[in-house]
Amino acid sequence: MTNENIQVRLAARPVGLPTDKNWDIRREPVPQAEDGQFVAEVLYVSLDPAMRGWMNDVKSYIAPVEIDAVMRAGGVARIRESRLAGYDVGEHVFCMTGVQQFCVSDGKDVQKVSPDVAPLPTFLGVLGMTGLTAYFGILDVGAIKAGETVVVSGAAGAVGSVVGQIAGIHDCRVVGIAGGKQKCDYLVDDLGFDAAIDYKSEDLRKALKEHCPKGVDVFFDNVGGDALNTVLPMLRMHGRVVICGAISQYNNTGPVTGPSNYMSLLVSRARMEGFVVFDYAKRYPEAIAAMGGWLADGRLKSQEQIEEGIENFPAVLLKLFDGGNFGKLILKNTAAF
Ligand SMILES: NC(=O)c1ccc[n+]([C@@H]2O[C@H](COP(=O)([O-])OP(=O)(O)OC[C@H]3O[C@@H](n4cnc5c(N)ncnc54)[C@H](OP(=O)(O)O)[C@@H]3O)[C@@H](O)[C@H]2O)c1
Repeated sequence: MTNENIQVRLAARPVGLPTDKNWDIRREPVPQAEDGQFVAEVLYVSLDPAMRGWMNDVKSYIAPVEIDAVMRAGGVARIRESRLAGYDVGEHVFCMTGVQQFCVSDGKDVQKVSPDVAPLPTFLGVLGMTGLTAYFGILDVGAIKAGETVVVSGAAGAVGSVVGQIAGIHDCRVVGIAGGKQKCDYLVDDLGFDAAIDYKSEDLRKALKEHCPKGVDVFFDNVGGDALNTVLPMLRMHGRVVICGAISQYNNTGPVTGPSNYMSLLVSRARMEGFVVFDYAKRYPEAIAAMGGWLADGRLKSQEQIEEGIENFPAVLLKLFDGGNFGKLILKNTAAF
């Protein structure tokens, strides 16, 4: 049994893409539980584009990670020592573990998870934050109706792949935008998208016109920038644009590239609305029940990419920004297995 706790701490705030200089890999002793706490061994850590925003010292929906603090992350962990009633050694939990091998918790914002319900990484993907984001974003904010045309950017990623599948389950025509032939083939052949556009090799505007001949009812945007600008003039009357994220902008060192075509919203009486998944916390059980059902009956597929080693976090995080991930990107604490 290991007696050290490898941690990834924020050493300096990045300008543009994070580099090794932004991280400090520390080896600390394994923590011990005090009264009212448990110590858990982290098994899987969720890697999210939002982490890039948490590294900036700016006002946002959540406080920035402090310099020298363990990098914030959600994760699945197994309780190894407990002095907190209701939490037993050996139980599995989802909580904000941070990017480290062991975490201490007082039980706040902790959810129990079970490998008997689904493989543990699924609680970071389809049954985790990204799945919940897809569910509420497309159904509540996007308010899709059967027969509508739905376009999703970042379509082969953790959120996008679930958005497209949920829209398909609701009898929408689904067109995904993703980088590369392999991702596009996967969307159509494995996930049942009606069409997929490789924005890296195709003319996005031309391809959208071809695949959405009647226009776009709902655009679920994970990417922002050019993708958003290109889709706006294609909105149908009363179309909806769901602003989930804008990953193309997260490492910008200059101003954010905004949509110059925003007047299309007026012409098509459309709306564009942002949302944060945490606002739906009270309704998570509803989403998990629905998606658990779709997973069980095979209508929803879960795709995870599991990389190894907590100390490899700095390099693995960059996969989110160069398209090196397929589905939900997860880091496994190999030392725990
Ligand atoms: N609002 C919320 O509550 C909420 C919650 C969770 C996530 N989000 C947002 O949802 C989005 C997707 O997150 P995720 O966890 O599912 O990540 P993800 O899609 O699994 O991974 C990121 C993907 O974005 C694409 N990408 C990266 N840089 C790009 C660029 N410059 N231009 C176009 N595409 C680029 C890459 O795919 P390609 O190979 O296809 O380029 C990459 O694989 C992010 O914007 C994230 O911030 C929002």
